[in-house]
Amino acid sequence: MNVLVTGAAGFIGSAYVRMLLRSDGPTITVLDKLTYAGSLDNLPLDHPRLEFVQGDIRDAELVAKLTSQADHVVHFAAESHVDRSISGASDFVLTNVVGTQTLLEGALRGGVSTFVHISTDEVYGSVDSGSSDEEYLLRPSSPYSASKASSDLLALAYHHTHGLDVRVTRCSNNYGPHQFPEKVIPLFVTNLLDGHQVPLYGEGLNVRDWLHVDDHCRGVELVRTQGRPGEVYNIGGGTELSNKELTGLLLEACGADWDRVTHVADRKGHDLRYSVDWSKAREELGYRPRHDFRSGLAETVDWYRAHRAWWEPLKRRVAEEHA
Ligand code: NAD
Ligand code: DAU
Repeated sequence: MNVLVTGAAGFIGSAYVRMLLRSDGPTITVLDKLTYAGSLDNLPLDHPRLEFVQGDIRDAELVAKLTSQADHVVHFAAESHVDRSISGASDFVLTNVVGTQTLLEGALRGGVSTFVHISTDEVYGSVDSGSSDEEYLLRPSSPYSASKASSDLLALAYHHTHGLDVRVTRCSNNYGPHQFPEKVIPLFVTNLLDGHQVPLYGEGLNVRDWLHVDDHCRGVELVRTQGRPGEVYNIGGGTELSNKELTGLLLEACGADWDRVTHVADRKGHDLRYSVDWSKAREELGYRPRHDFRSGLAETVDWYRAHRAWWEPLKRRVAEEHA
């Protein structure tokens, strides 16, 4: 069995591949363009069951070759950062929409038997009260989430129209090691470790549900191996926190005070809250997050403390981009 995993030089895809390689299992082909967000340092490249191919998911010829060799596809590749989609949305449409369609077409023609499309809780838009189940209206707010919702609909259309076995996952905010230091947790932790300020958007009242990346990856694996074709599965973490509460925990974990927090202008169109109802994944697949947030966060902070060589060059590159 060969599993083609896209975007696995990034944060979540690489955690998924490392998890699959820890025990016996399929051979894995990674297809990743190595954008600013991808790093070969995230993958055990010398593993005998892993092949890495650098390329774009929009390259139909390359995709045709790789999908003809693959039994399953797990599709993580995306432009993933909301703030970048606000300053420029075109790469989001090209990769998230056109790239996903190219991959779906390749999977269909190549005879792939299962295609897992990794999506996000952001497709439901802000959920001011209660939680969104899989039937909830899609009301994406940012160019990022609109591009992800488009790709979800394309994936489900390939199931409906062509009978391709597509399964869609929608998860909440992931945290853990190897996350690019532009997302709030690694950005704040690395700023604090460097003695810098952290930029809290608006009043810090926006709420996110935090999910350890390894719990997410177990959820994806349950969907790949036990999920049903044409179905959507929410994957949640069970820890809802306002950004202010999260910042308090990060300050504590890094031994810093509130004077290190700078209140900055709010993100445009900032969704107030996400909250997914993941009872379908629990009841059908036995999914349950295992990581306790406080200890998961402490381990994550320790990882960033011990891996400066991983994140310092990435932060330098981002600083150069903005210079
Ligand atoms: P990431 O930004 O860390 O990694 C994305 C990877 O995709 C990178 O390795 C990049 O090089 C690759 N890539 C980008 N464009 C490509 C292209 N055109 N062709 C091939 N490769 C390309 O992203 P992440 O945080 O690991 O997110 C992975 C997936 O999970 C995404 O689909 C994202 O929408 C979804 N998701 C992420 C979160 C989160 O909290 N990070 C939560 C919910 C859903
Ligand atoms: O909900 C799932 C989504 O989570 C994924 O689909 C996205 O790929 C992922 O990037 C993430 O999106 P968010 O926008 O929620 O994550 P981010 O880390 O960018 O921001 C988390 C919260 O922190 C959000 O309310 C904005 C706030 N924030 C963020 C940054 C970068 C700040 O206050 N300051 C910051 O500097």
